[in-house]
Amino acid sequence: MKILIVNGPNLNLLGKREPGIYGARGFEDYYAELKQRYANVEFGYFQSNVEGELINKLHEVGFSWDGIILNAGAYTHTSVALQDAIRGINTPVIEVHISNVHQREEFRHHSMISCACVGVICGFGLDSYRLAVEAFLAKNK
Ligand code: DQA
Repeated sequence: MKILIVNGPNLNLLGKREPGIYGARGFEDYYAELKQRYANVEFGYFQSNVEGELINKLHEVGFSWDGIILNAGAYTHTSVALQDAIRGINTPVIEVHISNVHQREEFRHHSMISCACVGVICGFGLDSYRLAVEAFLAKNK
């Protein structure tokens, strides 16, 4: 099974950025652990702060990979283009968030992409990504 993790804007700063909200751990470290834990899964990882690059990546893998775990960062709340990209590809996308966006500012309560995703996982810290992996594995059983 091939699963791509896509992180959007400012998520390259995980570990340094607002640690009270997003935790003190960098993503690379977490990603290494995830790969070790699910040795039978082929993972890919892509991060960009640029909306169009996220869309290009979805197009690139979205007809051949088995699953995409997408944390679109703040584009979650604004991007019609990302919603269209998710609708346009065949690979199922799970939306994830590290924080519980529903406990935060009102503008984070609405997602432009949830309606195009197979499901949403939020609020479990970095473990949100692992829960998304589990969801793909359970679907593929
Ligand atoms: C986030 C939540 C978004 O509202 C925010 O803009 C982010 C991170 C999360 O993982 O909790 O950049 O997607």
